[in-house]
Amino acid sequence: MQNIAIIGAGQMGSGITQYLAMNAINVTLIDYKESNIERASSNIENGLTKLVLKGKISEERKLQVLSCIQCSTSLEICREVDLVIEAIPEILEKKESLFRKLSEIMTETSILATNTSSLSITKLGSMFIDPSRVIGLHFFNPAFIMPLVEVIRGLETSGDTLEKITAFIIAINKEAVFVKDQSGFIVNRILISMINEAIFVLQEGIATPEEIDKAMKLGSNQPMGPLELADFIGLDTCLSIMETLHSNLGEDKYRPATLLRKYVEGNRLGRKTKKGFYTY
Ligand SMILES: NC(=O)c1ccc[n+]([C@@H]2O[C@H](COP(=O)([O-])OP(=O)(O)OC[C@H]3O[C@@H](n4cnc5c(N)ncnc54)[C@H](O)[C@@H]3O)[C@@H](O)[C@H]2O)c1
Repeated sequence: MQNIAIIGAGQMGSGITQYLAMNAINVTLIDYKESNIERASSNIENGLTKLVLKGKISEERKLQVLSCIQCSTSLEICREVDLVIEAIPEILEKKESLFRKLSEIMTETSILATNTSSLSITKLGSMFIDPSRVIGLHFFNPAFIMPLVEVIRGLETSGDTLEKITAFIIAINKEAVFVKDQSGFIVNRILISMINEAIFVLQEGIATPEEIDKAMKLGSNQPMGPLELADFIGLDTCLSIMETLHSNLGEDKYRPATLLRKYVEGNRLGRKTKKGFYTY
């Protein structure tokens, strides 16, 4: 797969774009907001410049990587690519409307992969013209560093789609785990539940954010504390995942903490709005 379109120039879309371009794949990054494309492009360029300054890559290599990236506000390019990776917000209605539009644009052989963290691949597949070509391809943040990709097959995903995606993951040097189509897959079911529990600990006044993060870093050998990590992921994304776990798995233990809801209502979304459990 040499021509790929990525839809959604947010944290994940821009990270995946950078990683694929670093693997000499031609990528078109699409977003309906021009300003988000500009922000993503300058983040990618600044990130590569830092690598040049640290002596990790040459200026020539940086230019090579940048030359693999195109940007667009139109979905039209999806007609010409082998693979579309969707990385728009974790809201079913938004993904549904996009999948319906893509049904009229994508060719009969190209694959539609979704980077969803928790939504059902089977459900998303049913919103596309051909569910056999829809698959979950869940990258982690930052996508150009984290080695893991969770691969999720929906009810109708074909063996051919799975085979092509597996070959693609090997070609781009990522590590795959294959997971059944259940909410949160492996990582987020465990990780976001832990973050939610940390928010309960904060909400109950048991400790400050700094103490909670310090305790989990030094007491359980995690590189980042759960609240710091929640700010990094985005509190809106964390809330959407908890809501999906709660409604799909139906157990009270997945109830989102009230404080998480409050912060999202107040647009305290973490690093992306410069305020979450910490101020940036
Ligand atoms: N943030 C994380 O750590 C993380 C990790 C793994 C997976 N994910 C998943 O990746 C997806 C994206 O998350 P994110 O954190 O990058 O979101 P984000 O909010 O940072 O970015 C989403 C982008 O999509 C754009 N967008 C929205 N609707 C669009 C449309 N119809 N067409 C084109 N562009 C559109 C927005 O303008 C925005 O730039 C979600 O499904 C999320 O669950 C997130």
